[in-house]
Amino acid sequence: MNAAPPLADIAAAAAAAGPAFGAQDMRFFADGVRERIGVVLPDAKAALVFRRLAPRVRELGFDSFARYRESLADPAAAEWERVVALLTTNHSRFFREIHHFKLLSRHLEEAFGRGVKRVRLWSAACAAGQEPYSMAMLVAHLKQGRPQIDARVLATDVDRTVLEAAGIGRYAPEDVGHLPRFARPFMQAEADGTSSVTGSPRELVSFRYHNLIGGEWPMRGPFDAIFCRNVLIYLSRADQTKVIRRLARLLKVGGILCLGHSEVARTDDMPIKRIEVPSSYVRI
Ligand SMILES: C[S@@+](CC[C@H](N)C(=O)[O-])C[C@H]1O[C@@H](n2cnc3c(N)ncnc32)[C@H](O)[C@@H]1O
Repeated sequence: MNAAPPLADIAAAAAAAGPAFGAQDMRFFADGVRERIGVVLPDAKAALVFRRLAPRVRELGFDSFARYRESLADPAAAEWERVVALLTTNHSRFFREIHHFKLLSRHLEEAFGRGVKRVRLWSAACAAGQEPYSMAMLVAHLKQGRPQIDARVLATDVDRTVLEAAGIGRYAPEDVGHLPRFARPFMQAEADGTSSVTGSPRELVSFRYHNLIGGEWPMRGPFDAIFCRNVLIYLSRADQTKVIRRLARLLKVGGILCLGHSEVARTDDMPIKRIEVPSSYVRI
């Protein structure tokens, strides 16, 4: 594996290609993002920070990152939302890590079999909606012929630009090419080649702003399943543990928690236990 280039090299290369960007800028944005959403940006990510912010610096007409920093001196500046949006990684896919959807399918079938009528699911870092819509498509499919089931999917994220896109629910051809057969009726082809989520999955999902690192968590649960995938990797160990503890408390006993493929929960002092499906836990 290649060692990350030192910050000084990245900063020099970056400065040659656009507005001046140095160690002070990196520290400022890394600290600002960590304080707001818990995402840790090590020095090795300096090139990424530069690449993502430089177009915004130019767009605003600043000749340097130092000027951009000045405009962000007020911690309540609205522009911080833009910084957060630009520095979060929003990559997602429909039915990503399919084993979690198979687990959810088994879990819901079993619950419906036991006569459960109220189902609450949460996609806790939903990006542009691919994950919660996948959950909703699965629920809509399983609900067919069971009109008594009251199901809802809560979908939250800290990036308002992706939440807006998620609400629109329109996706490029490459995003929808590999949907499972049962999900295809819930996608409608549009004249411009994109596809829109259609039918009951749209109505099942509510998109909301929510910061997993924030003090206030308005949701009360209890949830039958929480997907919190591919976001914890960006947080510190301490924040990962805090978030998982709070998520676990919001699950029904027997409810499931699915993390991303490289994310692991400590279970020794938490009311969850690991199950055989990768990165999956059950509330005990
Ligand atoms: C890589 S995407 C994961 C999307 C989806 N869960 C998946 O696995 O495909 C990570 C998402 O986490 C969001 N995020 C980052 N920090 C967050 C926080 N503190 N609270 C809530 N969401 C956060 C980002 O905005 C981004 O949309």
